[in-house]
Amino acid sequence: MAYINTKLENGAIWYDTDGNIIHAHGGHMLFRNGFYYWYGENRTNGNYVGCYRSSDLMNWEFRNNVLTINSQNQPIRIRTDLSLKNEKNSNGKINLERPKVLFNEKTNKYVLWAHYENGTDYSCAACAIATCDTPDGDFIYHGSFNPFGYMSRDCTLYQDCSGMAYFISAARDNADLHVYRLTEDYMNAECLVHKLWQGEYREAPAVFRREDKYYMFSSYCTGWAPNQGKYAASDGMENRWSILLNIGDETTYRTQPAFFLTVSGTKTTSYIYVSDRWDGKDYNNSRYVFLPVNFDETGEPAMNYCENFAIDVSTGEFRILC
Ligand code: GAL
Repeated sequence: MAYINTKLENGAIWYDTDGNIIHAHGGHMLFRNGFYYWYGENRTNGNYVGCYRSSDLMNWEFRNNVLTINSQNQPIRIRTDLSLKNEKNSNGKINLERPKVLFNEKTNKYVLWAHYENGTDYSCAACAIATCDTPDGDFIYHGSFNPFGYMSRDCTLYQDCSGMAYFISAARDNADLHVYRLTEDYMNAECLVHKLWQGEYREAPAVFRREDKYYMFSSYCTGWAPNQGKYAASDGMENRWSILLNIGDETTYRTQPAFFLTVSGTKTTSYIYVSDRWDGKDYNNSRYVFLPVNFDETGEPAMNYCENFAIDVSTGEFRILC
């Protein structure tokens, strides 16, 4: 193989195993059958969502653009908007942001949720769904909608160990963060279980679990510009969440959360904050920053910056390198 990474540099351009720039912005990872699948925004050409895979979390093989302007569609209920094109825009595209994918054990489907906008402005504030029988095949688009009529912008998915899954998204012009429990097939919001941090304008939510505690990191709402990250903790997705506390520095090291990666190995379990370092002027020049989250004895998380790192999937270690 021509390109083998033994270390990765935060904020540098990262290449896939073909030597092409990795476009998986605002993304998510799913571990299936020995591979980590990395999904994210790819705004080049007619693409919406790119998919890469890796067995070592260091070297990424491009698999497919799983959602594009030409993806097939299939309605799943009335009054969903099935369009993936907008002729009013010079590139003919809509916007699909922050794509997240879960595997549903009951239906054997890979289910993708994302934030949908018309590509001109942010007035649609909707979510969108797509599915596939394989992790990296051509996903079928099932359209966009407003869950229970609410606005829905920055979003994430979280799957609990019981298989219960949640869609979390910014509502009321980003003022409140909603948590929806998903239906058994993950194809709809079953109920709204929380309206969190009303009036706090939280964006870019990302959730993980460590031992019996759930953590949610998020950013404040300042567009592409980074700001002070905050976190909250809970005993369960549907239980009470704590107030928001600062994490990282005043710009969260010039990042915004994308998702968390948990790597368990023979020596340790690492909790890795995966984030975007956006380039607001030149979107396709946006970069990735992976940082380890450390915990004190009471379970409070802390995060420092590091430049170069390597992940060892067998030991579970996140190694900070010079
Ligand atoms: C950010 C958001 C991104 C994108 C951007 C557009 O706040 O997290 O996903 O929507 O705004 O300005």
